[in-house]
Amino acid sequence: MHYPIKSFEVISAIVNEALSTIDLNKQPSGLYEPIAYTINLGGKRIRPALTLMAFNLFHDDVSRAVMPALAVEFFHNFTLLHDDIMDKASVRRGQPTVHVKWDENTAILSGDLMQIIAYELMRQAPEKTLQDVMQLFNATAIQVCEGQQYDMEYESREDVTPEEYIEMIRLKTAVLLACALKIGAIIGGASKQDAQYLYDFGIHVGLAFQLKDDLLDVYGTPETFGKELGGDILCNKKTYLLIYAKKLASGELQKSLNYWLTIEKPNSNEKINAITDIYNQLNVKKICEDAMDFHFSKAIAVLDKVGVKKDKKQALRNLAENLMHRND
Ligand code: IPE
Ligand code: IPE
Ligand code: MG
Ligand code: MG
Ligand code: MG
Repeated sequence: MHYPIKSFEVISAIVNEALSTIDLNKQPSGLYEPIAYTINLGGKRIRPALTLMAFNLFHDDVSRAVMPALAVEFFHNFTLLHDDIMDKASVRRGQPTVHVKWDENTAILSGDLMQIIAYELMRQAPEKTLQDVMQLFNATAIQVCEGQQYDMEYESREDVTPEEYIEMIRLKTAVLLACALKIGAIIGGASKQDAQYLYDFGIHVGLAFQLKDDLLDVYGTPETFGKELGGDILCNKKTYLLIYAKKLASGELQKSLNYWLTIEKPNSNEKINAITDIYNQLNVKKICEDAMDFHFSKAIAVLDKVGVKKDKKQALRNLAENLMHRND
């Protein structure tokens, strides 16, 4: 079938329009307002775009996949409300996080409801794909929880390996991008093989995406990043940067790193500056960038295998590329 492939911009406009039809102006407002607040702050909305772009490889009429696409975005936003409590984060998308603007109980319950809304939206997938779609969505949701648990447990573990880190970010981040793509492929009627290639593409894009997020947490610009810099450092998150810094540091540098990792209540800026300085001396930024580039290349290699003409896949390739160069 011949039809023009939609660009990321066109797809985004469809996502934004569809999101605006979800009625969040409901009672009790204490429950719904934080949801509307979160959704209206936007963010990049890449996950619903991935669903529709994957669908669009196989079909022209993206409206068939639009509710499932929104479901993935609601699910993602639910995880952010809870993640910001867990990570003690006070700013997201350039604004106060829900648990700060309201309180923790609100962020928990509004988050819970966002997850239920996600399921209600996903249920609207075309009937004949519903079994496969729900099975994948559930499996993914479980994996995200597993990843978030590892992320927290690693804060107080000192022997986390690069392999364990990659598995943790595969679970907490990459599987949702992969799921977004595969759901689009399933609804679009892709072959099992192509749906799996798109899933694998999503895994590698997702790994590179989280490596980039960790880099931005240290080296980003606050205005564009929309989150407070150094949050990972303050939580002793075992990012690729920290894991390699621990591996490479010796002598005074090692002592200094261990000191900052063990002190109970640090002066925030002092700790962020000190650890960033250690990262810089050890050049771990480059190691993280190399890992990111490695997974980006893997992503492109598997996208090449998807059985549709190369020009149809250009929009997905461009999106993946832009995510590697993003500032937010
Ligand atoms: C933030 O995701 C959480 C991570 C997996 C790093 P995004 O960077 O996609 O956040 P928004 O939705 O654009 O704000
Ligand atoms: C987010 O990882 C993963 C999930 C929300 C599931 P981060 O904790 O690094 O995301 P940000 O930096 O807060 O957006
Ligand atoms: Mg987190
Ligand atoms: Mg976080
Ligand atoms: Mg982060």
